Amino acid sequence: MNDTISKAALNFSDKTPAVDLPVYGGTIGPDAIDMRSLYSQSGKLSYDPGFMATASCHSAISYIDGEKGELLYRGYPIEQLATTCDYMDTCFLLLKGELPTAEEKTEFEKNVADNAMVHEQMQFFFRGFRRDAHPMSILVAIVGALSSFYHDSLDINDPAHREMAAQRLLAHMPTLVAMSYKYSIGQPFVYPRKDLYYTANFMRMMFSTPAEDYKINDVLVRALDRILILHADHEQNASTTTVRLAGSSGANPFACVSAGIACLWGPAHGGANEAALNMIKSIGSVDNVADFVKSVKDPENQSRLMGFGHRVYKNIDPRATLMRETCHEVLNELGLNNDPMFKIALEIERVALEDDYFVSRQLYPNVDFYSGIVQSALGMPTNFFTGIFALARTVGWIAQWKEMISDPEQRIGRPRQLYVGEPRRDVPPRGK
Ligand code: ACO
Repeated sequence: MNDTISKAALNFSDKTPAVDLPVYGGTIGPDAIDMRSLYSQSGKLSYDPGFMATASCHSAISYIDGEKGELLYRGYPIEQLATTCDYMDTCFLLLKGELPTAEEKTEFEKNVADNAMVHEQMQFFFRGFRRDAHPMSILVAIVGALSSFYHDSLDINDPAHREMAAQRLLAHMPTLVAMSYKYSIGQPFVYPRKDLYYTANFMRMMFSTPAEDYKINDVLVRALDRILILHADHEQNASTTTVRLAGSSGANPFACVSAGIACLWGPAHGGANEAALNMIKSIGSVDNVADFVKSVKDPENQSRLMGFGHRVYKNIDPRATLMRETCHEVLNELGLNNDPMFKIALEIERVALEDDYFVSRQLYPNVDFYSGIVQSALGMPTNFFTGIFALARTVGWIAQWKEMISDPEQRIGRPRQLYVGEPRRDVPPRGK
């Protein structure tokens, strides 16, 4: 599967003989040293907490060049996809490897629309939650629970089952996120409509009531669609790695995506958009920005500038640039050009990008810095931002899970450890 392009020799300062390891080249990006025979050859393990220098798989789905600030889905730059394609094109591309023809797209969208309605029994799951439950806690549970509804798509070794599970997850997510919202505000659930585009349908399920139908605004639909495109996949990030790890044991795709949602919830990952908006709100005014930025630089202070920094991007996140543009469009459309949140965000960006602390650590705004402002302007409640991220990322999780299942090199993910506990010792005599 991988072509060896060179060899790496690893020398030890103790008596362990040197080890030769194959080096593989990808299409673009860094080469990777195959460490799999390290232990059998040397009795030693590689140590890499946080996977700072570890490629956990080979993948053909998305690619990030962190130095350049470049993101590709199946080779296409995110800027081109975000300006010329919609989310359904993007989903098709991520799942199948190529952009759809007009006929393929019509059929794909029809399949998704046909599967958008969830089992009626699902509403009883919702009713078991407190009304003030965090939407991510509901989504973790409800997506995992889908596996108890679909026994006909749980055989991970059957490609037809995998396809069906993929369709269902993609189609159900907007309905489930919207149901979580409706439940939280005590409004009746809104059923999906087949005649509407995916994102417009989601907005209608969020905001329509039996008393008043939601008026679809194309600019706002396009803005949310862009959020979905920008969040659709991001190579081996924490939640995708979680999905792959869960899937490596043979767990069903609904359980795996549920695990991904749990990981995404954390404030260092998908929870950052909610945290970034809360941070901007707490700053309160442009005049307080400088003091706030100063406070996050203090090593004694555990707080961070949310929406800044990224494990891989050491340049501006290309999604942040697109999101800033969308932010302008949405605020214009809604007549909110003087939105104080946006002004604070622009000022934070200006102050941080001139500050040596951020520049020297290569900390730039990431996509979440602006997505919270956009979502808030669209009427999305703050605690639903991460749920919308989960909705967008579901297609990436499924594409990555499917790629892993059909990879002949796939094995259960089972890291080792550097043990630093007590060496073997005997239990002392114990009184009765
Ligand atoms: N604000 C202030 N300082 C920061 C920030 C930040 N947002 N991010 C990193 N730093 C500092 C660290 O304190 C550290 O400084 P030091 O060298 O003096 O100790 C240095 O930069 C390196 O930080 P690490 O934590 O080692 O970087 P890592 O790659 O592990 O973390 C992460 C990346 C988690 C994204 C981090 O930058 C962060 O917490 N950012 C804020 C949360 C956020 O926006 N997350 C969204 C990620 S994008 C996404 O999920 C869609």
